[in-house]
Amino acid sequence: MSETETFAVVTGANRGIGLAITRRLVAEGYRVAACARQPSDALAELLPEAAGHVIVPLDLRRDETISEAARAVMKWSKRIDALVNCAGVASGSLFAMTRMDEMRDLFQVNTFGPLLFTQYISRIMTRNRAGSIVNIGSTAGLLADPGTLAYGGSKAALMHATRVLATELGPSGIRVNAIAPAVVETDMAAQMDDAARAALDTRSALPGRIQPDDVADLVMFLVSARSAKMTGQVLRLDRGLMS
Ligand SMILES: NC(=O)c1ccc[n+]([C@@H]2O[C@H](COP(=O)([O-])OP(=O)(O)OC[C@H]3O[C@@H](n4cnc5c(N)ncnc54)[C@H](OP(=O)(O)O)[C@@H]3O)[C@@H](O)[C@H]2O)c1
Repeated sequence: MSETETFAVVTGANRGIGLAITRRLVAEGYRVAACARQPSDALAELLPEAAGHVIVPLDLRRDETISEAARAVMKWSKRIDALVNCAGVASGSLFAMTRMDEMRDLFQVNTFGPLLFTQYISRIMTRNRAGSIVNIGSTAGLLADPGTLAYGGSKAALMHATRVLATELGPSGIRVNAIAPAVVETDMAAQMDDAARAALDTRSALPGRIQPDDVADLVMFLVSARSAKMTGQVLRLDRGLMS
């Protein structure tokens, strides 16, 4: 490991926003530990082991794979410069119809799992007294649209954790920020019906669609020295979604 090498960990790296972030990190010279339940062909092609990358199995529903993944990351590198918690699941239902087991499942994947993984990875960062953690939240956790109790609640908790962790880890030189995107063009967004998307369009100041690369741009800013004095922030990437 040379002083000039930089090491990043990304969850949900096999597709969607996580794949776009992984591509960008590789393009900018990072060695990447890409965490995925099932590595896609695109991911395997992007990360040849010979180039110093590694693909790490991780299922955020299962705490034992979280600790195993953290161990694999620690074996791979004694220094981690960036952790991007991107993996997540979405579902919507009105409060009266929300089943508690489904709500617990969303919180496990979107909140508890990422926080447990962050506990492990931040210990490596603490030893080196440096690191940047980026959590992918959602505008669903900032607004109060009907049907978003479980998903929005799990993202609100992750974004709150972002600010608390920033306070607690800042003295160790670790920065913690979050990005709250509105709808981004991935498989997840494809679950939304046309009427819901049209309604969001009328509430947005800017036309167009948010692409995974737009999120990756912001991640690259947050892991770079350009944001060295920023922590505890939740950056909205939402085309100016009014309310
Ligand atoms: N797309 C949007 O409109 C939007 C808006 C705001 C925020 N976000 C957030 O952005 C993040 C990425 O979303 P996306 O749009 O890229 O969604 P996506 O295309 O559906 O990808 C979701 C990613 O999360 C992984 N994942 C799901 N469950 C997992 C589990 N139990 N353990 C480990 N990994 C798991 C998936 O892996 P598998 O391939 O194995 O399922 C996949 O890599 C999520 O946190 C999402 O909530 C998305």
